[in-house]
Amino acid sequence: MDISIRKSEGSKLQDLNLENIPFGKYFTDHMLEADCENGEWKNVEIKPYQPLLLSPSVAALHYGQAIFEGIKAYKNNEGEAFIFRPKDNFKRFNISAERMQMPAVPEEIFMEGMRQLIALDKNWIPNKPDHALYIRPFMFSSDEVIGVRPSETYKFMIILSPTGPYYSEPMRIYVEEQYVRAAPGGVGYAKAAGNYGAAMYATAEAKKKGYDQVLWMDAYEHKYVQECGTMNVFFIIGNTAITPDLGQGTILDGVTRQSTLTLLKEMGLTVEERPLSIEEIMDAYKDGSLHDVFGTGTAATISLIKELRYKDFDMKFDVNSWKTGPTIKKWMADIREGRREDKYNWMQKV
Ligand SMILES: Cc1ncc(COP(=O)(O)O)c(C=O)c1O
Repeated sequence: MDISIRKSEGSKLQDLNLENIPFGKYFTDHMLEADCENGEWKNVEIKPYQPLLLSPSVAALHYGQAIFEGIKAYKNNEGEAFIFRPKDNFKRFNISAERMQMPAVPEEIFMEGMRQLIALDKNWIPNKPDHALYIRPFMFSSDEVIGVRPSETYKFMIILSPTGPYYSEPMRIYVEEQYVRAAPGGVGYAKAAGNYGAAMYATAEAKKKGYDQVLWMDAYEHKYVQECGTMNVFFIIGNTAITPDLGQGTILDGVTRQSTLTLLKEMGLTVEERPLSIEEIMDAYKDGSLHDVFGTGTAATISLIKELRYKDFDMKFDVNSWKTGPTIKKWMADIREGRREDKYNWMQKV
């Protein structure tokens, strides 16, 4: 498949200091755009970053066929660019597409298009510790018709945003019992835009109470932990790392989650993917065997959790005494920035 390239005149990069830039606010000089019509992909083009011209009737705005991904690219000390596990995001993207009755994006467009786009905007990858280029592939239905049915046309795009370090303070978490993020048979495992819109109300309520995020619970009994905001969640109890399993399709299969599972095994911990109840967590807290509670995700990698509030019970942790979460965070940064051997072949050269 041909990917045509139309370069921007000049670059916006001169006007920007790539140090400590906020997440998701600035975008590079180019973007990728491709169209799908009745299952056939065409017009694959890398072109100057620019607004889209959309009809107000465009289907995605009304019926929510919209999915996305989040990936990061890094530069090592030699200035070479690498993307962290992009193939895993590519696979997850098409899993989301299938669930939302959208067409699969061919590997050539997603992977090769992303590679060429990053190669063109390589100078935008910040060359500093904890900085990265955030990659946002997304797809939406583009029929200009009001009617509840799958679209015949779709647009796939990739945009790039340089980001500074994600200083995540240890988080205070509210265990959510009233609102749910996903139910079995629903779309929790898909990275569908509507999942994020649907989570905002409960998150805002938790923030009003002084918490940073919610810990989502299962939809039936509100008893088993699911994920934390937009992160997967890990609990270290004794010498065992436990994270909820993906069996019911209510949890996003995080790439950082998979990577964390691999590194926890390398650290010598026993790893369990299984249902984990809030009672079991409270029991471990009471008997002193619970330590290292953290979330995993592309944006922050690892975010330590310093407090969990369940009903009237407050679990407070001394995160400074923890070893596991901080070690995983450091190992992952070292692999990404070329200071630790990439023995699992996670880094793909641009
Ligand atoms: C709901 C949700 N869970 C978990 C994650 C973590 O996934 P990943 O590690 O692939 O970023 C994300 C972020 O993508 C998310 O949006």
